[in-house]
Amino acid sequence: MRATVRGVELHYDDSGDGEPLLLVHGFPLSRRMWDDVVPRLDGRWRAIAPDLRGHGESAVSESTSMRLYAGDLAALLDELGEKRPVVIVGMSMGGYIALEFYRRHPKRVRALVLADTRATRDTPQAARVREETAAEVLRDGSQVVAEGMVERLFAPSASPELREQWKGIMAATPPAGAAAALRAMAARPDSRRLLKRLAVPVLAIVGAEDVITPASDARAIAEAAPDGRVRVISRAGHMSPVEQPAEFAAILRDFLSDL
Ligand code: MLT
Repeated sequence: MRATVRGVELHYDDSGDGEPLLLVHGFPLSRRMWDDVVPRLDGRWRAIAPDLRGHGESAVSESTSMRLYAGDLAALLDELGEKRPVVIVGMSMGGYIALEFYRRHPKRVRALVLADTRATRDTPQAARVREETAAEVLRDGSQVVAEGMVERLFAPSASPELREQWKGIMAATPPAGAAAALRAMAARPDSRRLLKRLAVPVLAIVGAEDVITPASDARAIAEAAPDGRVRVISRAGHMSPVEQPAEFAAILRDFLSDL
């Protein structure tokens, strides 16, 4: 399905009945990362999974920000007539966006699931590397990021087929979309103070073997949030919803059934 929101065509999946769940993918990934999770929710939730601008099948804009991504999501919910508070599941960059969404629209959020992500901002050194990578991507294509990231995304036990599949998805991200996302991540705010005033239940999920946002980041989120908890998935790295979708979905179902 597709909708034009704020002048940008966004592609999304919208399935199931019940209360709304908004699934936000990471960088430079796509909504395909939820393909093996959503069917395991048994259609009991309305699962809305967009491709962010500049990713997957959605249209590209030359520049973006966490604020713009979050605004797109709010506009997409409006377009879909979804006025109820949503549970936002954000993976990695999707977690940065979920926190920004809360910052701007706290009343529209019912709960937050922050998967394989962190609340801190980039160090100046990390932000510089992002800028260098953005320039490289614009010059040489998204293949650069795909090759650079693929080994670090997965636990050692992940199959070569899964790695190849996601390397392909990353490499297919439009270079302008990937570069804009890198710059947006480098400029994102620190959300640690926000965490302390989250007035909704928060679940941090992390792959035990995540080397990009390790379990200590998830624990820090769960400890700072007034109503926070953490679940660690074994035999998974940064791509926990893709590597262990059955366990990810079971954890999500548990959390949702307690809301
Ligand atoms: C992601 O998976 O969204 C990114 O690796 C996050 C990041 O680079 O900070």
